[in-house]
Amino acid sequence: MMGVGIAPSLICADQCNLQREVEHLEDLGVDMLHVDLLDSHFSPSLPLGIEAVRQLRAHTTLPFDVHLMVTNNEFFIAQMVDIGVQRLCFHVEVSPHVDRLLQQVAEAGISPGIALKPATPLSALEYCLERIDFVLLMLINPGFAGHRGETQIPYAGRRVAACRQFLDERGSERVAIEIDGRVSFDNIPGLVAAGADILVAGSQSLFHSGGDLATNLERMREAVAAGWVRRGSVGLLQGPQPEWRQQSA
Ligand code: DX5
Ligand code: ZN
Repeated sequence: MMGVGIAPSLICADQCNLQREVEHLEDLGVDMLHVDLLDSHFSPSLPLGIEAVRQLRAHTTLPFDVHLMVTNNEFFIAQMVDIGVQRLCFHVEVSPHVDRLLQQVAEAGISPGIALKPATPLSALEYCLERIDFVLLMLINPGFAGHRGETQIPYAGRRVAACRQFLDERGSERVAIEIDGRVSFDNIPGLVAAGADILVAGSQSLFHSGGDLATNLERMREAVAAGWVRRGSVGLLQGPQPEWRQQSA
């Protein structure tokens, strides 16, 4: 649908029935599966293990969109290469060898991305642009999704728009923006209008307790469509086949 992808967050699915949930999501036609890997060291949470990701890989053809929130990126990247994931981003804030890691990911045939915590300046991307396919903007603090009171940063729209501008000004129009954290039915139109290309779907959208997965996905698509129209009116629409879709195909 349009140029915006929907990436359900695996850690928001029923953890006792992951295989069933993933198969259902694939049937519903989502674009990829967002796989958060936390080590409880980078941030205080550890919802999913490597072995679960490995076993799930055999049960779906959906691309795995891995978001590392760990301090030992080298170890986790090696594991993900071995499993055979399709997209992978890691946090620049904890990586002493960013350029080397990006090369390693790309050499493994995985689409590389950089993840940024909410308050990290966009300038951290400056010398990554030639090596990345996407930027993941965290719109909550990593690892705190389970905290009931955690809300989306108030500067989310401004951050997405600034990131789109940062990329475009540097000739990196092809680099996609993925947004992660409290993406909701209500804020999707504004965030898509600001330039978001891939939406991580969690507790406030696809897994919202007010509906089932099919109903919620439909509501998400309607919200995306509303944002897409607004995005067109501010001249942000790109080609019909977005880069991330070609990469994950
Ligand atoms: C945050 C994770 C997210 C998160 C999304 O640490 O990266 O993928 O679980 O969940 P919601 O949308 O409920 O914040
Ligand atoms: Zn994530």
